[in-house]
Amino acid sequence: MKLQIDVIAGARPNFMKVAALFAIAGKFPSLKLRLIHTGQHYDETMSGVFLKELGLPKPVCNLGVGSSSHATQTAQVMTGYEQWVNENRPDVCLVVGDVNSTVACALVAAKMQIVVAHVEAGLRSFDRTMPEELNRIVTDSLSDLLFVNEPSGVKNLMKEGVESSKVHLVGNVMIDTLLSQLEDAKKQAKYVEFGLESRQYAFVTFHRPSNVDNSIILLEIVDQLLWLSNVMPILFSVHPRTRRQLQNNKLYEVLEASSNIHLAEPLSYTDALSMTANAKVVVTDSGGLQEETSVLKVPCLTLRDNTERPITIDEGTNTLIASDWILFRKKIEEIEEGVYLKGVSNIQLWDGLAAKRILIVLDGI
Ligand code: UD1
Repeated sequence: MKLQIDVIAGARPNFMKVAALFAIAGKFPSLKLRLIHTGQHYDETMSGVFLKELGLPKPVCNLGVGSSSHATQTAQVMTGYEQWVNENRPDVCLVVGDVNSTVACALVAAKMQIVVAHVEAGLRSFDRTMPEELNRIVTDSLSDLLFVNEPSGVKNLMKEGVESSKVHLVGNVMIDTLLSQLEDAKKQAKYVEFGLESRQYAFVTFHRPSNVDNSIILLEIVDQLLWLSNVMPILFSVHPRTRRQLQNNKLYEVLEASSNIHLAEPLSYTDALSMTANAKVVVTDSGGLQEETSVLKVPCLTLRDNTERPITIDEGTNTLIASDWILFRKKIEEIEEGVYLKGVSNIQLWDGLAAKRILIVLDGI
């Protein structure tokens, strides 16, 4: 009998993580992976395009939850997944990352005594105002198998009293996908379509509620982008949440009016990878981009005052800017002068083999 594993994906950052598992699943004949899409993200640009580009199988079910408040969205994923499990009980529920779909499915599975495996376990920003931090804490406390990206994750879980036998430091599945797609993405040279030159532009994307839902902070960021656009051209990939808030604050038109700022819809995976790999600097609040830039050795300025991914600061190319705009301008100057010296070493276990390490563990249970 094959071990039935429900692999949960719901929001944009989940797809590139689960893709790494499906890419090598064929090498593990005793495992049967089923893709469950919760529908947390539903636009073609936020979901469909990733399924196609990353060669993911058609989901065996789509819970179709869509956007709503945190409680409603989480509850809808729980109701939908419980019904699925009642009719199609898996042996393992594998969740990735820290979105609402992650915690919702982990809770359903744990209550139904199904093994919960969490990929990207142990990351902590220690900032409980972030919805993702609460999702991480709850998901990890419910998990039977905790697959960790970086040593800080193991340390955090040990401090929280998680049994060490449950914890596996395996590396980073998102980097598996990056390494497998990099050559194609590089060939694509997406920046040409925006009239940009390699290593001469800033790639910008941010969407965290802490940055976009507060008008004063949003205005400050827009001001800094206008300043940056005098130093180098900007390609700004605008998340739906960010677009809505920029429009509400009449800032979208301000950015649109700047000839050195190009506004784009959310990019597909290979387009975003192509833009990142060829950027002079990435300005973001995305967790994934902090990791991807570290591997690609592209400077990353993060618009947050903490990160759950400290290895990107210690060994990668990441600098936390928070809202220290003097620091932001200083770092841009360093990048311009070629003296931003971060991220020269390779990060251990971010080597393209994380998914294999995970499936070996699952094969042995
Ligand atoms: C969610 C995750 C966040 C992740 C981000 C990546 C949680 C708590 N947050 O935040 O960790 O970094 O995804 O995108 O799970 N919308 C669309 N089309 C879509 C999806 C959303 O237009 O396909 C719009 C809706 O107006 C929605 C808003 O974007 O209200 C925000 O979407 P939501 O899924 O609530 O959260 P994200 O901000 O995307």
